[in-house]
Amino acid sequence: MVGTKYGLAQAGAPKLRDAGQRKGLLVGSAVSNSQLRQPTFTKLLADQASIVVAENDMKWEMIHPEPDRFDFARADDLLSFAAQHGQKLRGHNLCWHNQMPPWFAQLATRENAADLLRRHIAEVAGHFAGRVHSWDVVNEAVNVTDGRPDGLRNSKWLQLLGPDYIGIAYRAASTADPKTLLTYNDYEIEPDGPNCDEKRKAVLRLLTWMRDEKIPIHSVGLQSHLRASTKLPSWAGLHQFLAAVEKLDLDVFVTELDVNDSELTGDVDERDEAVAKLYRDYLTNVFQHASVKAVLTWGLTDRDSWLNAPGRRHDERRLRPLPFDAALKPKPAFYAIADAMSAAPAR
Ligand code: G3I
Repeated sequence: MVGTKYGLAQAGAPKLRDAGQRKGLLVGSAVSNSQLRQPTFTKLLADQASIVVAENDMKWEMIHPEPDRFDFARADDLLSFAAQHGQKLRGHNLCWHNQMPPWFAQLATRENAADLLRRHIAEVAGHFAGRVHSWDVVNEAVNVTDGRPDGLRNSKWLQLLGPDYIGIAYRAASTADPKTLLTYNDYEIEPDGPNCDEKRKAVLRLLTWMRDEKIPIHSVGLQSHLRASTKLPSWAGLHQFLAAVEKLDLDVFVTELDVNDSELTGDVDERDEAVAKLYRDYLTNVFQHASVKAVLTWGLTDRDSWLNAPGRRHDERRLRPLPFDAALKPKPAFYAIADAMSAAPAR
């Protein structure tokens, strides 16, 4: 059985939240509303996580379904669960090009887009004011393949408002919730390679511009959707990026960690070992930076991973990207996270 090498059944598994606390690290996971109604899952989440984030329930399409109607019910469920279990809550997200409600495309114009954005943030960040550890204010605004000199994604927000939408969003969030840590969140900042080098340069250019423009921001989110292969990355580009981010006096959160094992061959145990090896190596490297204050996986169990969502894969093979298997049993990846945290310098 997987995990026997570590000799402990689930009951004896270390609690990541305690291991993290010993090092000044928050640790946790993305959660969907349906999981909050599963006692075995909520027991695990309460045991393991000191911080949680809504996988989808705080996004525009879920929380602002009609122009004049906000639906906070599912997000409030998670907020009260977190409060009951001494957990912090991350907000994800206030401005993104994805998962926008249909009414936005029909209603938004160059004339009203800034007001729509300000109102959404005032309502949503205002509703949770003082109770959200950090908000992903703008998510995934960089896409160098869109060919702009500034590397920005040619999103609907950019088309309607130009790069100013970024300042509008962060200033609105800062006003609505002066206590929250305003975060810029993005992907493909971590691995080696020319595309990620270009991505890192463009994200740094954006963060430096925000500092120059005195746009309020406190932290950067490394989504960390990693891909397992036969060779471990050097992380050289990531270390340079984190050193530059520290010079901008920004904290860093690992916000959506998982390991896509679709390229791996071998049986389940071999794949799980390779996935664990990447978890361990990645976290050992990022924890060298005192600016890294939190690590969240994008889910706890392979069963509910977005990578196994219906229609995503052409074969029957289920991916195994997260610390717990479909039966909520700890996998080698879980122990790799625990080990990396216990070996981490305290921050
Ligand atoms: O809510 C509808 C439901 O009514 C409908 O029956 C069902 C079937 O089509 O779809 C449901 O919506 C799905 C939604 O998740 C809620 O479950 C969408 O189809 C599906 O596309 C959406 O996927 C989410 C995805 O973001 C959308 O881009 C994933 O769960 C979520 O894990 C993923 O998360 C993103 C982060 O926000 C940003 N970074 C990348 C990460 C992975 O893509």
